[in-house]
Amino acid sequence: MRMIDLHCHILPGVDDGSPDMETSLKLAKVAVAQGITHMLLTPHHMDGEYLNHKADVIVKTKSFQKALDQNGIQLTVYPGQEVHITGELMQAVDQDDILFADEGNRYLMLELPHNEVPEYTNQMLFTLQARGITPVLVHPERNQGFMKNPDQLYDFVNQGCLTQLTASSYVGVFGKHVQKFTEQIIDAGLGFVFASDAHNFEGRSFKMAQAFEKLETAKGKPFAELYKENAKRIINGDDVNSGETHHIHHDKQRKRFLGLF
Ligand SMILES: [Fe+2]
Repeated sequence: MRMIDLHCHILPGVDDGSPDMETSLKLAKVAVAQGITHMLLTPHHMDGEYLNHKADVIVKTKSFQKALDQNGIQLTVYPGQEVHITGELMQAVDQDDILFADEGNRYLMLELPHNEVPEYTNQMLFTLQARGITPVLVHPERNQGFMKNPDQLYDFVNQGCLTQLTASSYVGVFGKHVQKFTEQIIDAGLGFVFASDAHNFEGRSFKMAQAFEKLETAKGKPFAELYKENAKRIINGDDVNSGETHHIHHDKQRKRFLGLF
């Protein structure tokens, strides 16, 4: 099955990812070698450092696609954003400055600060959902707030949010603690999809093939295929059945993490 990457920073020169077109083309080749055929380009947006407005990302994605085609790199790219949670988010949605994972404006790739889950998060998630938007929480396994209080992640998923786990986290690039937490999130049925969050060639590369290999070994082929299928569903704006990631390994209920840390 096709591998779709929903989160990466290889759009050239827009954030802390790839600095230029030459690097981006090389990174795209690595992605293709990993088995990735489609990619959502998600530069940081509204994280206090970077602003990548919707209109700009669309134009830049088109020229990147052109460069990929001219270089014979078989990768289809779509414009996206990694949207940081901020009090100004709803205003940005109203002003049509937000790119969703899908064209129907259903799935939002949402980043929380790494060191905490801000108090207003619950309210913001609720507000988004009331407007028909499903937040996809990116790399919850790297969030120190969720590490301290994993039940909060359980609650958000139960309220209808999805999560995107980073492939590198699962194979240990961010250390044992993050790796373990990633495994626990998957075992608890609270993970839905892998993405690379690739920034460069070294510490923040793709690792998608490695992560899927590990997932298949740990949880079986149907489970790994489900993660791939979910990426397709998200980018197509289709329903993601949030029950499947725990039913498929025969757990009756999605688990809480009580007492794991
Ligand atoms: Fe990212």
